[in-house]
Amino acid sequence: MSKGIKIAIDGPAAAGKSTIAKRIAEKLDFTYIDTGAMYRALTHKALINDINITSDHELTSLLQQTDIRLQPSLNGQIVFIDGKDCTDVIRSQQVTSNVSEVSAHENVRHLMVDKQRKLADTTGVVMDGRDIGTAVLPDAELKVFMTASVEERALRRHQEDQKRGIHTPIEQLKAQIAERDRADSERKVSPLKKAEDAIIIDTTSMTIEEVIDEIIGLAEMRMKR
Ligand code: DC
Repeated sequence: MSKGIKIAIDGPAAAGKSTIAKRIAEKLDFTYIDTGAMYRALTHKALINDINITSDHELTSLLQQTDIRLQPSLNGQIVFIDGKDCTDVIRSQQVTSNVSEVSAHENVRHLMVDKQRKLADTTGVVMDGRDIGTAVLPDAELKVFMTASVEERALRRHQEDQKRGIHTPIEQLKAQIAERDRADSERKVSPLKKAEDAIIIDTTSMTIEEVIDEIIGLAEMRMKR
């Protein structure tokens, strides 16, 4: 008999975490929670409301008045901010270049972590982010730390963008990804860090299917325990 477990997937920007986490959740019939989308949603709302994103206080009061909902759909996860579909706009360059600053604030993170733990209070869950194994779900039965070289991550993001009609030079993407890695790893509050008991998967030379198979294999072992 299999049972629902909690799977935490962490790793640097553009390592393919969301693509993989979503597919694993579908295969196991688990709930998928993209925590990066939640920080992106807050960043988007702050930018359109002219909120000072260097202020933890302004951001936390904004977050307290914001309803962020993640809804699975056939085309991926839909992100609603106060009832409005904001799935695409939270992936914009403007949000991407400001989200590390927003997510570095201590009280913003406390509120987000509370929300994320409540969302994970279900039988089977796959959650991806930067601090899931270390801070949000330290008791997760399976923790994966997914990495890939900066070159490979920039190339994947470039191909993804091209499909969406966006043409950003690879060198620019590489610089942005490296900068986000630096900001996310060096922040004081729960920085991007591998949990001690996480399994590292370097996906640089792996296909999506290979990564999925490896994680499902690990999950099945945990579900039998
Ligand atoms: O996974 P992503 O690129 O959508 O995440 C956007 C940003 O949100 C990322 O640069 C850092 C932040 N983030 C975080 O601090 N903690 C998480 N659990 C998830 C994302």
